[in-house]
Amino acid sequence: MIDIHSHILPSIDDGAQNEEEALALARAAEAEGIHTVAATPHHQNGSFVNEAADIRAKTRHLNDAVQAAGINVTIIPGQETRIHGEYLEEWEKGTILPVGGNTDYVLIEFPLDHVPRYASQLLYDIQLKGLIPVIVHPERNEEIKDRPNLLYSLVKNGSLTQLTAASLTGRFGSKAKQLSLDLLEANLAHLIASDAHDTEKRGFHLQEGYAAVETKFNARFVKQLQANAQRLIQNERLLIDPPEHVKKKKFLGLF
Ligand SMILES: [Fe+2]
Repeated sequence: MIDIHSHILPSIDDGAQNEEEALALARAAEAEGIHTVAATPHHQNGSFVNEAADIRAKTRHLNDAVQAAGINVTIIPGQETRIHGEYLEEWEKGTILPVGGNTDYVLIEFPLDHVPRYASQLLYDIQLKGLIPVIVHPERNEEIKDRPNLLYSLVKNGSLTQLTAASLTGRFGSKAKQLSLDLLEANLAHLIASDAHDTEKRGFHLQEGYAAVETKFNARFVKQLQANAQRLIQNERLLIDPPEHVKKKKFLGLF
């Protein structure tokens, strides 16, 4: 398996705090059957600034340490960038880092409690630069939880989305789990990734996440999602189905 979102780089954000923790994460990935892990540290989220050149250098260093430790996992660079007003200027400056370092795919994070009003325009402008925005963990965003169809127009206009594996297993609550399934059903989610921070509270859970998709849908859908992770790091176009609106659920007894 390929994991396109993790906080495995040590001493750089709220993920691995030192090399030992990073190696423990790499071992956990290997044990779970993950052969490639994108290191995507937070950037511009209000707490952390991690620019492209630094991430590339630290990824090379961690890769050396992982290989030296005999762990059969490849770390590739990336960045989880909080959406912000200077995104395009940063892209021009070269401080934004796509997944893999040289693909067109960039991970974009919204604030947890809302979707900024300028998001739609900026996600469009990002595409005019030749980039493909991947909105990370929309199922954990409070505004999208209340109005999932906010995502419909963003996906319709070319953005992709990535669910957190642990959301599908219920670790982020029943609402995030249900929304994850609803987004998959409406073709509004294209990738699953771990967003792993550590080996204890926020591990990979990628296998469990895919298993939840297989239980609710089928093995073919799992294959499609896994193929998308592969295609993304190879800078190929993803397999996507036309987006649909999330249907309002009717609850027994309420209607
Ligand atoms: Fe993350």
